[in-house]
Amino acid sequence: MMQESIAALTAEITTAELNNPAELDAFRISYLGRKGRLADLFDQLKTVPAEDKRAVGQQLNTLKQQAQARFDEAQQAAEAAADNAPANPDFDYSLPVVPNALGTRHPLSLVREEMLRIFGRIGFAVAEGPEIEDDWHNFTALNFPENHPARDMQDTFFVAPVSHAAGAANAGTTGEAATGAPALPHLLRTHTSTVQVRVMETEPLPIRRVMPGRVFRNEAISARAHMMFHQVEGIFIDEGVSFADLKQTVYYFVQELFGADINIRFRPSFFPFTEPSAEIDITCLICKGAGCNICKYSGWVEIGGCGMVDPAVLENAGIDPEKYSGYAWGMGIERIAMLKYQIKDLRLFTENDMRFLRQFEAL
Ligand code: DAH
Repeated sequence: MMQESIAALTAEITTAELNNPAELDAFRISYLGRKGRLADLFDQLKTVPAEDKRAVGQQLNTLKQQAQARFDEAQQAAEAAADNAPANPDFDYSLPVVPNALGTRHPLSLVREEMLRIFGRIGFAVAEGPEIEDDWHNFTALNFPENHPARDMQDTFFVAPVSHAAGAANAGTTGEAATGAPALPHLLRTHTSTVQVRVMETEPLPIRRVMPGRVFRNEAISARAHMMFHQVEGIFIDEGVSFADLKQTVYYFVQELFGADINIRFRPSFFPFTEPSAEIDITCLICKGAGCNICKYSGWVEIGGCGMVDPAVLENAGIDPEKYSGYAWGMGIERIAMLKYQIKDLRLFTENDMRFLRQFEAL
């Protein structure tokens, strides 16, 4: 009796149609449900003579597994078919798309990334440092004398010390810890040369790094000056590095960025952290060297400063100046973007005027 029921049910389960959700549901209810026909047979197991119970039980279990397997397979097939089916069969999929305006890249990001790519090709890897700095990394380690005008309140934004955090914030600033001098206020970095010091203090030699970042100076905002702008710093320290290496790197960079027919000149200058120092001028791209108000009618524009790292700076960072030498530079991203895109007012970079921003490369 029981054997016959099992045989009949097996035939039904293996041949049942499972082609649509209704059939799937019916199958699940009648074979797998708690009140289904398989459950019925399990209930009848108690009427089976003791010596057959084991064998019949096993048959029932096998049948249950078969039913479950058939159901799972059919359900997966149904789900896969649903995934592939058009969501709305009446929709015309050949219609052209409605254009969806994505944003554009900011010109400063475009120029920064282009600069990093160019230096990256000759082995300069990116490093970054904090925008809130201590006196050591912004000034002292970079050889600024104590009474240097760049430390003046007029140029530097100082950050009011928070008394309970002061101890923790100053810990690890080599200069102060070493000299035991009273804590100097923190500040918004006035240049990215801070990151030079940080990499020289922490990284193994040779060092070859580019360091992009935002810098701050207490200046009135105008077409030509801003209290917040961006620089790309670079540093290379190894044995036997010379000014000729520096010049070659700058030639390479400028020609990669602006093309081979651009003129470059090094103008002797002074920075506390380099000796000798130079400013880098290139042909004014606004007037092509003819003279205009951007280049103050000289035909040249300055794109940054550079020089051989002063031995005192190497020593401050724990590098032996007898054995190692190096060069460094700092270039303004805004200035380069202005030349590249013929932008005549610095304020455009921060005003978020869509008519300006939309002119740059789309995302
Ligand atoms: N830190 C300088 C500035 O903000 C730029 C600069 C000049 C950076 C010479 C350098 C350098 O690394 O060697 O005006």
